[in-house]
Amino acid sequence: MLKIVLLSFVLLAPSVLAKFRFDNYTLYKILPKNGQIKLLQNLYEHDSRFDFWTNPGRADFVSVMSSPENKAHLENLLHKNNVQFEITMGNIQEAIDKEPIKRYTRGNLRSMQFDAYYTNSEINAWMDDLAREYSFVTPIIAGRSFEGRQIRGIKISHGSRRKIIFLEGGLHAREWISPATVCYITHQLLTSRDPEIMAAARDFDWYIIPVTNPDGYIWSHDEFRMWRKNRRPVGQHFGVDLNRNWNSNWLVAGSSIDPSTEIYAGPGPFSEPETRTLSAYLRTIGDRIDLYLSFHSFGQLLLVPFGNSTAPYANYHDAVNIGRRAMGALSVRFGTQYVTGNIVEAINYYGTGGTIDWIKEHLKVPLVYCYESRDRGQYGFLLPSDQILPNGQETMDSVVDMIHQARRFGYMTGN
Ligand SMILES: *[C@@H]1O[C@H](CO)[C@@H](O)[C@H](O)[C@H]1NC(C)=O
Ligand SMILES: *[C@@H]1O[C@H](CO)[C@@H](O)[C@H](O)[C@H]1NC(C)=O
Ligand SMILES: [Zn+2]
Repeated sequence: MLKIVLLSFVLLAPSVLAKFRFDNYTLYKILPKNGQIKLLQNLYEHDSRFDFWTNPGRADFVSVMSSPENKAHLENLLHKNNVQFEITMGNIQEAIDKEPIKRYTRGNLRSMQFDAYYTNSEINAWMDDLAREYSFVTPIIAGRSFEGRQIRGIKISHGSRRKIIFLEGGLHAREWISPATVCYITHQLLTSRDPEIMAAARDFDWYIIPVTNPDGYIWSHDEFRMWRKNRRPVGQHFGVDLNRNWNSNWLVAGSSIDPSTEIYAGPGPFSEPETRTLSAYLRTIGDRIDLYLSFHSFGQLLLVPFGNSTAPYANYHDAVNIGRRAMGALSVRFGTQYVTGNIVEAINYYGTGGTIDWIKEHLKVPLVYCYESRDRGQYGFLLPSDQILPNGQETMDSVVDMIHQARRFGYMTGN
């Protein structure tokens, strides 16, 4: 009896813990001038009261969330230093309450829609259904998480050992538009009648992982919407930033050894099962990957390696040229503007230990990009329903054009 009581307490405990509410939390869009960024970087690195939604680089804006208790402090500091800012969301909980979370019904492919967000288990159920529906879709397991979940995805392959396009999403838990975009691209590859998309789907082996940080993604759905890292417990704190944990210039810049920060790099390179197992998986197919796309949000940027320096690598100029053209194609449908560049150039903030740097350095993949999707600080991670599908559509346009441009530059022609 006692056992049952204890067991049910343990089982009930997580739901007894109420979901964290962001009532009256405020999102600021700060527009620092030259010389004012240091102030924000100081705050970023030394004051964990504020949640920076973007890196405080010299980019044209910095997004910061404040709790109601700390608003006055932040605003006073900004006023005192003459830093221009606007409030883009006055009550973050209100935006969270409006988020379009739809249900996926196993066995019903039509119940996956592309103007909404889905949970990890729903995305997995959908992928299972795709594998059942299409003979050329196979489930893949690309690793496992700290809490022991599989990092799951699918492969779309119309023939054996074609060159690979790898799509990776959801490494940062709260960036929900990332798995949504990856799912939309997948859907297009499987259902579109557009000849260019059909050719792209046939010409390559597509390896697609919508959620590479399942523990964090689940946590962001169930407990704390603004969760970014994985869920490793570290003393009093939780989570390693999985985009700072890769074994490429680990802890060199833009990351921290303080586990209370959002950019905690972990106790060592590849200390986390997510990055360790995913990188091991990638190594097994690395020589066949022609194009690697990592999906994050937000800021409307297309980033290329590396995060340690602006020095161009061997085919950097090609990569940037191809990227810029693809972003031109992205802008056609809705006018959405992206900036393309090296991590340091584009956001003017050094950040190392990230996925794309490792992919470039260790797997020598010819073309490696990271999308920082919509928007530019209006809604940030809480991109509303009416932007989810458009973000997917314009991104798909850009991926198709990227393949086209890459070929013009002599890449991706190997099959
Ligand atoms: C949020 O702010 C409003 C207006 O100042 C206030 O009436 C309300 O009680 C606050 N809500 C919470 C949960 O703090
Ligand atoms: C940046 O990192 C890359 C990959 O490790 C390396 O090849 C390059 O030399 C580094 N650049 C600088 C300036 O440290
Ligand atoms: Zn991210």
